[in-house]
Amino acid sequence: MTQDVRRRVSNCFVLLDAENQVAGYYTFAAAGIPLADLPESLTKRLPRYPSLPAGLIGRLAVDRPHQRQGLGALLVVDAVARAVRAEPVIYALFVDAKDDQPAAFYARLGFHRLTSQSNRLFIPISEIANRLSEQET
Ligand SMILES: CC(C)(COP(=O)(O)OP(=O)(O)OC[C@H]1O[C@@H](n2cnc3c(N)ncnc32)[C@H](O)[C@@H]1OP(=O)(O)O)[C@@H](O)C(=O)NCCC(=O)NCCS
Repeated sequence: MTQDVRRRVSNCFVLLDAENQVAGYYTFAAAGIPLADLPESLTKRLPRYPSLPAGLIGRLAVDRPHQRQGLGALLVVDAVARAVRAEPVIYALFVDAKDDQPAAFYARLGFHRLTSQSNRLFIPISEIANRLSEQET
């Protein structure tokens, strides 16, 4: 992971607890999301590019004693905030959940399963922005 960061192929963001110990982390990289994998309800309003710019949450983990306290969700929100701020624009966030458990975690946060691969999930940034503006009104 350190090598990936050094080679500028992925970033790693770490959440520290009050004792400065690692409570959780995620890796984050620029990636492409194939248009063919997205549902037709979205692609009919999108340009016919082979893939769209996306942010890939590679690994995300919360240390066991800190699980189920909202920290995983907080790390995803942190990735969303970074995606919204990114100047080379990002269409969506996506993630490869390694099995059904983390897939359920991401689904709970509003991610959708990609049509072709059930444990690959995504969420368009515009959808998150709409949800946030609904909460403000
Ligand atoms: C998956 C993981 C990151 C979740 O982190 P967490 O801090 O425990 O999750 P949160 O407390 O932020 O939970 C957010 C929501 O997801 C739900 N959730 C959390 N873990 C879940 C799971 N394993 N299955 C289903 N839902 C889950 C929570 O109930 C919560 O919903 P709520 O607010 O309505 O109660 C953590 O369990 C983990 O590190 N697992 C091992 C590594 C892993 O599988 N990483 C995913 C890589 S693909």
